[in-house]
Amino acid sequence: MKLTILIALLLTVNLALGQAKDYKLNGEVRKVFREEMSKIDSTFQEMNHHLVRGNLISYRNCVRKIKEGFVLKSKLTIEQHKEIDSKLSKRYKSYASKFERHLRKLSSAAKKRDLELINFYHGKVLEDCTSCHKNVVSEKFPNFKSKKKSTSKKKGQK
Ligand code: HEC
Repeated sequence: MKLTILIALLLTVNLALGQAKDYKLNGEVRKVFREEMSKIDSTFQEMNHHLVRGNLISYRNCVRKIKEGFVLKSKLTIEQHKEIDSKLSKRYKSYASKFERHLRKLSSAAKKRDLELINFYHGKVLEDCTSCHKNVVSEKFPNFKSKKKSTSKKKGQK
C-alpha cells in the first residue's frame, strides 16, 4: 500500500518533469517526493555497504525501507494522493511497477540468503533507477543523453 503511494509520486513527478509539461506538480508534493528520492538514494548506498559485508539482515531492512517508503504516507494528504493518482500515465506506471516488483524479489532473495539471486535483483533495481531517470526524468538527468544521437546504430553498438 505504502509503496503504491511512492509509485504514484514517482509517476506523477515524472509527468511534471518529463513529457507532460502542461502539468506542474504541486510544490509541496514535489518537495516531499524529492526528499523521498534522497532517502532512497542514501538507503541504496547503505545496501551496497551491507551487501559486500554479507550483512543480509541489515541489507533486507534497507530494501524494505525503500519498498515501504519513508515519509510519503505521513506527509501527504488524501487529497494529494488522489491528485497524484489521477495524473498517472501508463508509461511511468510501468517503470514504477517494475521497480516495485524487483524490490519485492530482492527482499525475498535476501530472506533466503541466496547471494546469487540477491546480486541479480540488486542489479535490476539499479537498472530501474537509471532507466526511470533516463527515460522518464530526462530533463532532470540530462547526463544520460546519448552523444551519438545522429548515428542510427546507437542501440545495437558494441
Ligand atoms: C519510476 C521512476 C523512478 C525510479 C525507479 C527511481 N527514481 Fe529517482 N527520481 C525520479 C524522479 C521523477 C526524480 C525527480 C524528482 C524531482 O526533482 O521532482 C528522481 C530524483 C532522484 C534523485 C535526485 C533527488 C533530488 O534531490 O532532486 C536521486 C538522488 C534519485 N532519484 C535516486 C534514485 C535511486 C537511487 C533509485 C533507485 C534505487 C531511483 N532514484 C529510482 C524517478 C525515479
